[in-house]
Amino acid sequence: MGTGSARGGARPVALTARRVALEALLEIEGGGRANVVVPRLLEHTGLDERDRGLVTELVYGTCRMRRACDWLVDRHLRGHTDPEVRAGLRLGAYQLAHLRTPPHAAVSATVEEVRGPGRGVVNAVLRKVAGDVGGGDLRWPDPATELSYPDWIVARLARDLGPAAAREALVVMNTAPSVTRRSDGYTQDQASQWVAAAVGAQAGELVVDLCAAPGGKATAMAYGAADPIPAQGGAQQGGPALVVAADRATDRARIVAGNVAGLGLENVVTVVADGTAPPLRPAISDRVLVDAPCSGLGVLRRRPDARWRVRATDVDRLALLQRQLLEAAADLVRPGGTVAYSVCTLTVVETAAIDRWAASALPWLAPLPPPGPPWTPAGRGALLLPQAAGTDGMYLLLLRRTA
Ligand SMILES: C[S@@+](CC[C@H](N)C(=O)[O-])C[C@H]1O[C@@H](n2cnc3c(N)ncnc32)[C@H](O)[C@@H]1O
Repeated sequence: MGTGSARGGARPVALTARRVALEALLEIEGGGRANVVVPRLLEHTGLDERDRGLVTELVYGTCRMRRACDWLVDRHLRGHTDPEVRAGLRLGAYQLAHLRTPPHAAVSATVEEVRGPGRGVVNAVLRKVAGDVGGGDLRWPDPATELSYPDWIVARLARDLGPAAAREALVVMNTAPSVTRRSDGYTQDQASQWVAAAVGAQAGELVVDLCAAPGGKATAMAYGAADPIPAQGGAQQGGPALVVAADRATDRARIVAGNVAGLGLENVVTVVADGTAPPLRPAISDRVLVDAPCSGLGVLRRRPDARWRVRATDVDRLALLQRQLLEAAADLVRPGGTVAYSVCTLTVVETAAIDRWAASALPWLAPLPPPGPPWTPAGRGALLLPQAAGTDGMYLLLLRRTA
């Protein structure tokens, strides 16, 4: 237990995991990102390891299950709630319905941390929610509320993947991600490691990563550190390639440079550049990776608040950018060289439809065999569903420039 306020003020009160979680939820509601807010608040608390883990679980879980929690509490609320009350209600409902915390602990420990006149409302409503959850016959109005996603994401994935596969993906993305480390110690999801390995960078080659930040795949390719896709091979052989790691965002390119330095790599050149017009000679590169900006619907377990931020209209806007990036890659790669296109999302528009477009717009890029299981074929590429191997969801298309 620490003291004061998680936001840095020095008040002589004990800080608990639930109070820190409440403050994080308030900041996230005000526009902060969970993966930025939580580590920053934890820095200012003296909480022990166990309580820090509890803060992360409470905040990430409450963010993911926000819609389900709101439905549980709104049935017992009348009128407007202030942000502190709303955050307290969501936090309590999450513990009751999803963590299965015993009602006496979930309600009283949460109510104790709510400041201001709304405390009584939080207490009264959470007691009713505890009764509903304990009663065991909750009738959710629809799958989107129960699984706690915006309607459009549920509808889009059901259409694009089929209802059963979509539901499985949505359920899996409500769980905490596993942590995987590469042989060089860098933490990177298995799916991203597979993509980096599938690029197949060889010793002495020039590899351009057009959208490199924060540098996970660029460093994997430079180090030869990523695990290959099972039964696929394609791991790096015989020493390092030279990797040009480009990103349009200066602050994000700095993160790449920091990761490169941290890993002691000398074969990565980081540049700030627009990947749709890279400052490099045509046909200069042996391999190009386009790990394109996307709607991120395959990595929602890793970014608990992202589902509330991404919009249906983003998908079409991003698909346009993805085509422009792939077009630039097609010019950058030498005859005989390869282009890998990947996105961490599951929509058809950003995956199989990009492939269909590439097949007609970039006919000098011929398909290479897509990865096998646990990936499933999608167009000339392959899709990795989050439930297939417990990884992030990902799409990969491998192409070779013909002479
Ligand atoms: C999916 S992330 C890349 C992840 C990275 N490859 C890794 O493995 O760590 C997409 C990146 O594309 C960058 N980006 C967006 N538009 C871009 C553009 N026009 N040119 C280059 N980079 C761009 C974003 O700043 C973001 O860092």
